[in-house]
Amino acid sequence: MRVRRFLMSLSVLLLVGCSAAAGGLGNVVAPGKVWLSDLDISKTQQGWGEPRKNLSVDGNPLQIAGKKFERGLGTHADSLLYIELNGGSTRFNAQVGVDDEVNRAGSVEFRILADGKPLFKSGMIKSGDAAKTVDVDVTGVTLLILAVDSGDDMNYDHADWADAFFTVSGAAPKTVDAPKEEAVILTPKPSPKPRINSARVFGVRPGSPVLYTIAASGQRPLWFSAENLPEGLTLNRETGQITGKLAKRGEHKITMVATNDLGEARKELRLVVGDTIALTPPMGWNSWNCWACAVDDKKIRDAADAMVKSGLINHGWQYINIDDCWMVRLNSDDPVVGGPRRDEAGRLLTNKRFPDMKGLTDYVHGQGLKIGTYISPGPWTCAGYEGSWQHEQLDARRFAEWGFDYLKYDWCGYGSIVSRPTLEQMKEPYLFMRLCLDRIDRDIVYSLCQYGMGDVWKWGAEVGGNCWRTTGDITDSWGSMAGIGFAQADHAPYASPGHWNDPDMLVVGLVGWGPTLRESRLTPNEQYTHISLWCLLASPLLIGCDLTRIDDFTMNLLTNDEVLEVNQDPLGKQAVRITQDNGREVWAKKMEDGSLAVGLFNRDEIAQTVTTQWSDLGLGGKMRVRDLWRQQDVGSFNGTFSAEVPRHGVVLVRLFPAE
Ligand code: GAL
Repeated sequence: MRVRRFLMSLSVLLLVGCSAAAGGLGNVVAPGKVWLSDLDISKTQQGWGEPRKNLSVDGNPLQIAGKKFERGLGTHADSLLYIELNGGSTRFNAQVGVDDEVNRAGSVEFRILADGKPLFKSGMIKSGDAAKTVDVDVTGVTLLILAVDSGDDMNYDHADWADAFFTVSGAAPKTVDAPKEEAVILTPKPSPKPRINSARVFGVRPGSPVLYTIAASGQRPLWFSAENLPEGLTLNRETGQITGKLAKRGEHKITMVATNDLGEARKELRLVVGDTIALTPPMGWNSWNCWACAVDDKKIRDAADAMVKSGLINHGWQYINIDDCWMVRLNSDDPVVGGPRRDEAGRLLTNKRFPDMKGLTDYVHGQGLKIGTYISPGPWTCAGYEGSWQHEQLDARRFAEWGFDYLKYDWCGYGSIVSRPTLEQMKEPYLFMRLCLDRIDRDIVYSLCQYGMGDVWKWGAEVGGNCWRTTGDITDSWGSMAGIGFAQADHAPYASPGHWNDPDMLVVGLVGWGPTLRESRLTPNEQYTHISLWCLLASPLLIGCDLTRIDDFTMNLLTNDEVLEVNQDPLGKQAVRITQDNGREVWAKKMEDGSLAVGLFNRDEIAQTVTTQWSDLGLGGKMRVRDLWRQQDVGSFNGTFSAEVPRHGVVLVRLFPAE
């Protein structure tokens, strides 16, 4: 007994001594098995939730097609984990699949890259499929990347690297952060000469107040004028705000003019008086991705001030939208957010963080901006605040009286009214609020938020929505942003002026769902991808960061007028996916002038050349290719165009017939 104990402590000593001595030699450990789940798995980047040690992403024991596993990493597509092997491991083994905890169909592909080269691909694995065996030689590999890509979309893609271990003979495997990138500013500084950047088409309903601000960049002072401004409208020469009312249906062609000491810019505006508003995707800011429930009156005013002061307003950004948490919270003893939820007449009350809603909307309008609000058709909102259930008409009227221009209507608490809704039941609350909004004489952009249930893109327009969320909530990870953005291809036919698919708000700049904020975790190239893709998708563009602390890189992302023009094009087409292979994707959007906006994306972990063929794009002959981020012509090309695209990056171009 004694002898055994002595031998054991000797071996422990030897091991400790060995690894301690080896500390300086590259962290060598005794040969053997190292479980993936024993590494620092917090470095996993994923599309939803948090990575879990020996549990699924939802915190259940790992289980694939009925088989339980004691060890492993539970993650969610799109997922990435970088592991330095430094030549110390010989094999990597695992059982991979979709965890049984999802009761709907998830579909994923597991991939392993060794020093940038593909080493393993599982093929598509669906919920219920047996685990696939991974058994790969990693001898001599320095950097291993474990990736899980989503199949159709990222919903329910709970992915397990079960029983995953390395056979180690030298340096211990170590998880590391994905490579850092320099934040390179591509957008050229705006010219001091005047340039009009606001949308070329604007819709208003007969009799509704018009608020259109001519957005223009260029050295101040800058003066505005307009030719053919219809009677009933006036233009403020200094601010470029067009206000007034038009009673009759019809179209007006107005020439907007902006002048400064250096010259003059002119642009045609088609003002359409009819039933449809939001003829181009709404552009603005929303409080949720930065402040969540830490929002208050001051933060909204500050955001409006910053929208103007930063110059964002000059590039077409116009909505300041309050998300959840401005009403009174149910069952709360907190004197700030608790209390009576409605007055005696049943009208909505605000919580104490919003002491004067009318004052706030007047303030924001006074800046030449518009303002939005949020509520649920259910008895409460997602964060547990008062909802509109059984007060819909009163609330619509209240929103109009307060002066709101945008309403996000979020299913949430309605789940307590119908938990397993039929298609008709899904439509019902949205149709009902539509009817209520139709009865008020104010144009309110109607934004449906129900996370894509029942393929809302197929009927969002039918229930009167101007836009509809197609997905769950975005977060500032590559997995989430890319998982959502690249899954929008099938929705393209349903987008048109006044009717937009909404893959959720932007996650660039300082975000964090309040009160503390962080830099977006997206790399600079991922952020270029995010903005380029959302512009191609003709998505509403709602900035989610703290506008009062916006840095130069973020401003560069949000003020590139040639990029934003892709989003605001009056034809209102959403880009379609042209090709997709090995992480390379080409998406193209038809523009009103006959040109094509084309995104060449690289979803892979290493830089790749991405090529597009005219035959795939439906083009022929010579085309002039313009790089939109750099605002530079690249040259004329015949038949094909290629670009070197960085990891997770994009080259966004516009193709015009060459002269
Ligand atoms: C979610 C919605 C988010 C945000 C949040 C507020 O349902 O998708 O965008 O509005 O509610 O509680």
